Amino acid sequence: MSNTRLRLRLIGTWCGLAVTAFCANLLYANSIEVANAAVSSRSMLASEAGVAAMRAGGNAIDAAVATAFTLAVTYPSAGNLGGGGFAVIRFATGEVFTNDHRERAPSNATRDMFLDDNGQYVPDRARRSHLASGVPGSVAGLLDIHERFGRLSREAVIARAIELAQDGFPLPADLARQFASRYDRFNDIPSTRKIFYKEDGSLYEEGDVFKQADLAATLSRIAKQGRDGFYLGETADLIVAEMARGDGLISKEDLKSYHSVWREPIRGKYRGYEILSMPPPSSGGVLVVQLLNMLEPYDLSELGFHTAASMHLMIEAQRRAYADRAEHLGDPDYYNVPIQKLISKRYALERMSDIGGRASISDDVDAGSWLAEPIETTHFSVIDSEGTAVAFTTTINSAYGSGIVVDGAGFLLNNEMDDFSAKPDTPNMFGLLGDEANAIEPGKRMLSSMTPTIVTRGDKFVLITGSPGGSTIITTTLQVILNVIDHGFTLDEAVNAARFHHQWQPNNVRFEAKVRQSVIDELESMGHVNLNSMREGSAIGDANSILKTRDGITATSDGRNMGGAAGY
Ligand code: GLY
Repeated sequence: MSNTRLRLRLIGTWCGLAVTAFCANLLYANSIEVANAAVSSRSMLASEAGVAAMRAGGNAIDAAVATAFTLAVTYPSAGNLGGGGFAVIRFATGEVFTNDHRERAPSNATRDMFLDDNGQYVPDRARRSHLASGVPGSVAGLLDIHERFGRLSREAVIARAIELAQDGFPLPADLARQFASRYDRFNDIPSTRKIFYKEDGSLYEEGDVFKQADLAATLSRIAKQGRDGFYLGETADLIVAEMARGDGLISKEDLKSYHSVWREPIRGKYRGYEILSMPPPSSGGVLVVQLLNMLEPYDLSELGFHTAASMHLMIEAQRRAYADRAEHLGDPDYYNVPIQKLISKRYALERMSDIGGRASISDDVDAGSWLAEPIETTHFSVIDSEGTAVAFTTTINSAYGSGIVVDGAGFLLNNEMDDFSAKPDTPNMFGLLGDEANAIEPGKRMLSSMTPTIVTRGDKFVLITGSPGGSTIITTTLQVILNVIDHGFTLDEAVNAARFHHQWQPNNVRFEAKVRQSVIDELESMGHVNLNSMREGSAIGDANSILKTRDGITATSDGRNMGGAAGY
């Protein structure tokens, strides 16, 4: 990275006045300005693997696939082989593709599988058991994306991940802390214990070399055999044997029949920019476009960043969009999702027509009625020297998924089944409600909030963004877009500015700690209730993003976390 100017700077030195209060809270931002190509992700090793792929003659697709496989090694909390995700790809020609490799419910899944004999939802069954796992989609998606558009060999894009798993890497402080804080839970699961703790049962310290031999072997099978190295043969045998140990449902047939899906992107327009994002089974693209449509008639720039007036509008828009999410969104292969209606400008106007100067009450806000109807995940952004952009979000749902490692295969299983609506009016782990559209059915993909998004203007890419954070993914992505387009922030400012979140139900507004108290008080006087300022250090989202600037490209990993941006 000889031409890269890597800047590690105190936030306070670059923050504009409007966000100074928040900025003082952050330790660092990791941001680069480059001329050609960049990756911004939650792990510097993964970003570097992506950039190395481009240096070796690969394109942004090779880089994205190398980054994702490496995240499965260097960021086990959310990077994964045992989960699923979504990618939005835009070539400089303007062609756009989206790949859905979301997990699917196993064929023996049943609608009430997370209810007890009294019909009550059992959260631990949906989140911490072998039943919690959907059929993993990440490997199929990554290989399909690579096969269709990559230039390097499959072996080449997986090589760095194998090396890091086999030889290990110095454990960063955040992972050491995360392993330690989960000791009681993981120590009870033998297959998980042997990955995250030393042979004598003691904790890894920051800087210890962390090796994952079983994971290296699984990655090697994928490198050699392609999808058969995961969905058939030894890896499939290990997954099914793991299921048998815990009465899980994923069968050999479920694995064999898993496939990723190429879908039409969600397209929206906002103040002359084009928004390209992920369609259902993610709700992300639909909601972010719906929210932008709802906000477009208002001059947010004039109203100002984090004023009560602009935040009131955003909260009211979010209240209405999330009510629609609960009612209308689910896997389009199983449920007729009214996508065009939800993302139309006319519908947005209708939904915002009853907004006044005071907060509405969530219980009085229903979904649009034209028909009956700790949190993890990780996002990275890639741009190559030809202008190909990739927005990629991947997950095993909550941090460390179900917590269950497939014995002998070295990777964690997802707990994505909790993203289904287990029972109407019963919140999932993100407090999200749902009904028929997102009810469990065999083979169905659970509704997601992941929002990998590319913003363009004319024929040029402007911004690549997205985030983890369950239901807050959508509002985080929205705020990064608004900060760039409406408030004219630099990427550092846009990504690191304080965030807030509202999702209809529960009717509360969560703020990062540095949102000014005077603004919160003002919102309260407008009738907003349950305004919860988060603890210092608690954060919403992790928006590793890339922005085209007049001078080149800025890649910024979110200062809330220990990610990194690399490029040249
Ligand atoms: N598992 C979080 C999401 O997909 O929304």
